[in-house]
Amino acid sequence: MLAHLLLLVAPAQVTDPVLAAMMRAERRVEVAQDETNALEDSPAAARVGQALFYNSSISSNGKVSCATCHEPSLGFTTREPLARGVGLTERNAPTLLDVSRRRWFGWGGRNDSLWSQAIVPLLAPQEMGSSAEQLRRALQAQPELGRAWTKVHGESAVSDDVLLAQAGKSLAAYQRRLVTGRSAFDDYARALRDKDAAAQAQYPPLAAQGALLFFGRAGCRSCHVGPEFTDEEFHDLGLPPVRGRKPDEGRREGLRLLAADRFRADSAFSDAPRGLRAQELAFLAATDDDWGRFKTPSLRNVTRTAPYMHTGQFGTLQEVLRFYSTLEGAAPRGHHGETVLKPLHLTEDELKALEAFLQTLEGSLPPDELLRPPVW
Ligand code: HEC
Ligand code: HEC
Repeated sequence: MLAHLLLLVAPAQVTDPVLAAMMRAERRVEVAQDETNALEDSPAAARVGQALFYNSSISSNGKVSCATCHEPSLGFTTREPLARGVGLTERNAPTLLDVSRRRWFGWGGRNDSLWSQAIVPLLAPQEMGSSAEQLRRALQAQPELGRAWTKVHGESAVSDDVLLAQAGKSLAAYQRRLVTGRSAFDDYARALRDKDAAAQAQYPPLAAQGALLFFGRAGCRSCHVGPEFTDEEFHDLGLPPVRGRKPDEGRREGLRLLAADRFRADSAFSDAPRGLRAQELAFLAATDDDWGRFKTPSLRNVTRTAPYMHTGQFGTLQEVLRFYSTLEGAAPRGHHGETVLKPLHLTEDELKALEAFLQTLEGSLPPDELLRPPVW
């Protein structure tokens, strides 16, 4: 039976571990609970969060909202290589689709929860440059928002940090709903599992060839692993240096900022300061090796999120794939650097196949009413 199945997939190329990895990458598990945010499944909190997300009146210049850098029509990213708010940031804006499935937030993983992450762009001068005071003023000036807020959080006459944590938890409740549907790849993986030849035949042959490469010889799955296509870890790919940009510490800075973050999972603002998420923090230790490492991004919906990498230096998927193929311009890494990547020397056909595969990781978008400010 197995031999028969392998023949269906691709003659003579499939080895068992490759096929097994493909089947394991079907997304079947619901989003896990984040116990540090007791409001994460509250529809009322999500509505408050949605109103805040599209609200530029809470930025220092009155012009920037979360949606400025995370545009719903662009997979919750922007076209700019480096995101621009009140000022220019130093990194590319990652997608928020399926973001509540992440373990660490930010390219360097500087936050351990979705709600504590949201406080960072609110306050960062080059992003929104906001403050608790400005948030309070907006709640007074916008009656619908103010009323909805009070129902969820009570009066806004609380300490600044409590108010910020409440805003963060609402924003997280909203973002938790930004989930995408099954992809063509998920259907293919299920067809493989079910040994359903007719369903397997629905999947584009070029993408099937790309999947074999991705899970097999090209070694992509050593980092982009499992249903989320990420190991939730940090790696240094030795990306070609971008002219005019100062070196980015990546995970090293992320760990430092996380250690100092007053809204951590084990803080007084957390709803589970002794929970699992909080306990895990005890095992984080910074080493020199963390320098220049960045989070492995999920590849689901990657077709929607150009440009790519933490620098936004590659405009298209082909450019990304060509980098993996040739490692042209790759920065020499120090003695402590990982040497994980080797040039893959892919042919033009193989590059096309890999791209065709990545295109099948797109799932349907969240409902329209989540892609704009709420109607009260
Ligand atoms: C000025 C542009 C800008 C604005 C405004 C902005 N972001 Fe971001 N966002 C970014 C950038 C850039 C990153 C990557 C940051 C890093 O690596 O440290 C990011 C990262 C994130 C992440 C982490 C995603 C992941 O997979 O790691 C989340 C969640 C997020 N932003 C949500 C928000 C929310 C909520 C708001 C509004 C309160 C917001 N952002 C406002 C640019 C922006
Ligand atoms: C050693 C781990 C590792 C391997 C192997 C690897 N990647 Fe990545 N990938 C990453 C990391 C880390 C990033 C982000 C790097 C950065 O921004 O500094 C990334 C970024 C990407 C991106 C850009 C995504 C985005 O949203 O910006 C794509 C596409 C991608 N990888 C595809 C692949 C493919 C295809 C392969 C196999 C040919 C592969 N990767 C192999 C770790 C890896």
